[in-house]
Amino acid sequence: MYATLIATGSYLPEKILTNKDLESMVDTSDEWIRTRSGIEQRHIAAEHETTSDLAVNAAKRALTNAGLQTSDIDLIVVATTTPDVIFPSTACIVQDKLGIKNAAAFDIQAVCSGFVYALSIVDKMIASGAHNRALVIGAETYSRILNWKDRATCVLFGDGAGAVIVTRSDKPGILASKIQSDGSRRNILNVPGQVRNGAIYGDPTVHMDGQAVFKFAVGAMVDICNATQAAAGVTSADIDWLVPHQANVRIIDATAKKLGVPLEKSIVTVSKHGNTSAASIPLALDVAFRDGRLKPGNLVQMVGVGGGFTWGSVLARWG
Ligand code: UT7
Repeated sequence: MYATLIATGSYLPEKILTNKDLESMVDTSDEWIRTRSGIEQRHIAAEHETTSDLAVNAAKRALTNAGLQTSDIDLIVVATTTPDVIFPSTACIVQDKLGIKNAAAFDIQAVCSGFVYALSIVDKMIASGAHNRALVIGAETYSRILNWKDRATCVLFGDGAGAVIVTRSDKPGILASKIQSDGSRRNILNVPGQVRNGAIYGDPTVHMDGQAVFKFAVGAMVDICNATQAAAGVTSADIDWLVPHQANVRIIDATAKKLGVPLEKSIVTVSKHGNTSAASIPLALDVAFRDGRLKPGNLVQMVGVGGGFTWGSVLARWG
């Protein structure tokens, strides 16, 4: 038995923050942000919107697109670094808000690799026969953990959610997946603050050594894509769509080039969404599905890298 991706859905908060808007907030320019990252705008959650709200909206659209009811779902996994609260998990809150009965629900915390980590785990849970149909969601409200005075980070991130439905099938869907980590690199990208005895200790906002992350990200993504292709017995020539984590268009282009995947086969949404961490890959999948690029039968390689450090890739034939 196989686990197959059959439908997508996504949700972006209404408010758009443009590079021009940021010019009046920090010492930056539209030109710098565009040329260094490829970002033009990002969405920002409204005061009342939580990560689970974004996740629920994306999940509802995925269910509609799949023609499924909430009662068809028996597993909910939310990849997020910005949960509603410390506990319960955002997945449990989504389970309640959607009224899904008797489903297992848990969160994955692997920062920008969260969605590929989640898919890799869900693949095993479904292919083993333990579960039938999963909602796998990447959802983030990164705007809440940014220092809006730090131009090196606040111009890069955005909020949003993407969801996919993964179902059991007798035809190959997810062909191979690989996930990895290296905690010794935790200091180049982190939120060092912690809650202790009712108070916050340390800085609860994103810190990043952008150049160190950039250098590591390309090599890690290329290596894990190659390893995943080898495990599935395919090559870059077989890939219909490369769907990389959306942090920086220069990272995406360098990865595609080194892999030998033509640039026009990469799905790029970073210009409109910014870096939405765990939500970026499912958001990109949904864009590609809605605009007709991604079609049933296509071979899709997803790849992510992020804080931890964590990285991973999933190769799937779309169901
Ligand atoms: O999701 C996974 C995690 N994140 C990533 O993958 C991000 C990886 N890194 C990157 O995308 C890039 O390194 C950045 C977009 C963050 C930065 O691009 P860069 O080409 O590596 O620039 P830089 O950090 O070398 O900075 C160049 C200059 C510096 O000034 P000096 O020292 O040359 O005078 C920075 O202070 O740009 C300055 N700078 C800015 N200037 C205007 C940094 N941030 C800004 C800004 N606006 N927002």
